[in-house]
Amino acid sequence: MMAGRTWMVVLLAAVVIGCYIYFDGYDPESLRGARVVVTGCSTGIGEQMAYHYARLGAKVIITARREARLKEVVAKMKDLGAQEAIYVAGDMAKAEDCERTIKTAEEKFGGLDYLVLNHMGSSFKREGLSLWDGDMAFLEDFTNINYLSYVRLASLALPMLEQSNGSVVVVSSLLGKITGTFVAGYCGVKFALDGFFGSLRQELQLKKADVSITLVVLGLINTEQAMNAAKVMGAEDLAKTIALSAEDAAVAIIRSGAVRQRELYYPWIMVWPLAKLRPVFPQVLDWMEVQKSA
Ligand SMILES: *[C@@H]1O[C@H](CO)[C@@H](O)[C@H](O)[C@H]1NC(C)=O
Repeated sequence: MMAGRTWMVVLLAAVVIGCYIYFDGYDPESLRGARVVVTGCSTGIGEQMAYHYARLGAKVIITARREARLKEVVAKMKDLGAQEAIYVAGDMAKAEDCERTIKTAEEKFGGLDYLVLNHMGSSFKREGLSLWDGDMAFLEDFTNINYLSYVRLASLALPMLEQSNGSVVVVSSLLGKITGTFVAGYCGVKFALDGFFGSLRQELQLKKADVSITLVVLGLINTEQAMNAAKVMGAEDLAKTIALSAEDAAVAIIRSGAVRQRELYYPWIMVWPLAKLRPVFPQVLDWMEVQKSA
């Protein structure tokens, strides 16, 4: 009898938690006409986010370096129902290209509701994974494109976002929550995003500015970049089996931004337990990483 009641309580709790997670007040209609900037849209999750915002009827500016590719993505966005689809071809490592992107939102949309920071410059050192070798020239470029440009774009967009009570969505990685061998440069940059945008969130609260910041902690997603990295590690087949699709990731990210979620762990079961292991048992994580890499 007691056991039966315990199970009832557990089941009820599971249902309540499930509902809490699922019914987050997401209203896809809220994105109709929303003014959005998404960076890094030539492939992968960025491209899929562009299509999903388009389906929801948003007004979207997308960026990437390759203009020919952007033209194709914009054409498809229009077919899918974007109220507006505009591209800015540029290199976010350059300050003037960041400025041009945010200026375009100001000129074409007269404001901004969502800034989705997603671009990624050369994800792992040259084609391979390697021990940190002190190559500062590489790290300076890497930090510029993957960290400083995020801060720059957010800083430029913040006045408009404060006006609209908008949102910043920062696409990061499990490697922004745990460290790993062969990825010191990458982890440094992704941890920096958590540090900067975590502080910014507090400062916005202090200023009573209603701008939400969502940090997206991604696990393995089936993108070209992730699969290339897996290939280097000799784990391509495994990676292809367990990776989730870029399309599903894009939908989850857009939803988390729209409900102003503080952090999104996606896929939850792959990233949340590991992310929480580090602060509690850091030595266990160190051991696991070294075993895996040895
Ligand atoms: C933003 O939020 C403030 C207070 O929370 C509100 O007074 C203001 O009208 C909102 N602005 C917009 C554009 O929704």
